[in-house]
Amino acid sequence: MALLFLFLVLTHLAYLQNISANFYSDFDITWGNDHAKILDNGQQLQLTLDQSSGSGFQSKNEYLFAKIDMQIKLVPGNSAGTVTAYYMSSQGDKHDEIDFEFLGNLSGDPYIMQTNVFSQDQGNREQRIYLWFDPTADFHTYSVLWNPQQILFSVDGTPVRVFKNNENVGVAYPKNQGMRIYSSLWNGDDWATRGGLVKIDWSKAPFVASYQNFNAQVCSTSSSDCSANAWYSQVALDSGEQQQLEWVRKNYMVYDYCSDTKRFPQGLPTECTR
Ligand SMILES: *[C@@H]1O[C@H](CO)[C@@H](O)[C@H](O)[C@H]1NC(C)=O
Repeated sequence: MALLFLFLVLTHLAYLQNISANFYSDFDITWGNDHAKILDNGQQLQLTLDQSSGSGFQSKNEYLFAKIDMQIKLVPGNSAGTVTAYYMSSQGDKHDEIDFEFLGNLSGDPYIMQTNVFSQDQGNREQRIYLWFDPTADFHTYSVLWNPQQILFSVDGTPVRVFKNNENVGVAYPKNQGMRIYSSLWNGDDWATRGGLVKIDWSKAPFVASYQNFNAQVCSTSSSDCSANAWYSQVALDSGEQQQLEWVRKNYMVYDYCSDTKRFPQGLPTECTR
C-alpha cells in the first residue's frame, strides 16, 4: 500500500517541473553574439545595444502553460529610444504571443511598460503603464502566469493585467501551441519614446539590460495532468489581488486599448466589453 502510494506520488511529480535557471542550460543567445553575455557561471545574462547591433536570447524549451518569473534591471541613464522586449511566442502561422516591452526614456523621465497579447495572429491589445519604482536602479520580478483560463501579468507579485479566456464569446485564446521565451534589446527610436520624438543618443552607448533568477513552473508537454498546481488552476484574482490591480490601473495606467474608441470606430474588441 505504501509502495503503491509512493509510486503514485512519483509518477505524478514527474508531470510537474520547476526549473530554476542557469542561463547556459536554459537559453541560447540568438542575436548579436558578442553583444550578449552570460556571467557568474550562468547566474546572470546581459544584453547590450550599440550602434552596430542589439542582442537577444531565447529559451531552449517550449512551454504549454507556465508560470515564469524573470528579474530584470533595465537600461539605466538616458535610455530614450531603446526597447527591451521580454515575451513568450509560438512559432509559425497563427502565432500566439504574450509580451512585455519596456520603453526607455531620458534620464529621470519614466519608463513605460507595454503589455500585449496575440492569439492566432490577432494582437492590437496594447496596455501601457508607468511603474511605481525606478526599474533601472535594481532588479525587479516580471511574471507571466499562463494557464487555460487566464494570462496574468505581474510585477514584483502585483498584478498589472489579466487577459481572460473569452472563447465562449468567440475571442481566440492561446492554448493549443507551446511558446518559447524571448528577450531582446533593440533600437525602437522611431516609435518608443514620446511616440518617436526622442531619438537614441548613441554617445551614451553601450546600453545594457541585465537578467537573473529565471524561474519557471511548467507542465510537462507529455501530460495534460497539471491541475495539481495552484498556478495552473487559478481561474480569477482573489479580492486582494483585484484591489492591487485596480490600484495600478487607477494610478499608473497610461494607455488601454479597451478605452480607445477612436482606434476602434466599429466598436471595441469583444473582450473589452466583458
Ligand atoms: C518619457 O517621459 C515623458 C515626459 O515625462 C512622458 O510623457 C513619456 O510618457 C515617458 N515615457 C516614454 C516611453 O515616452
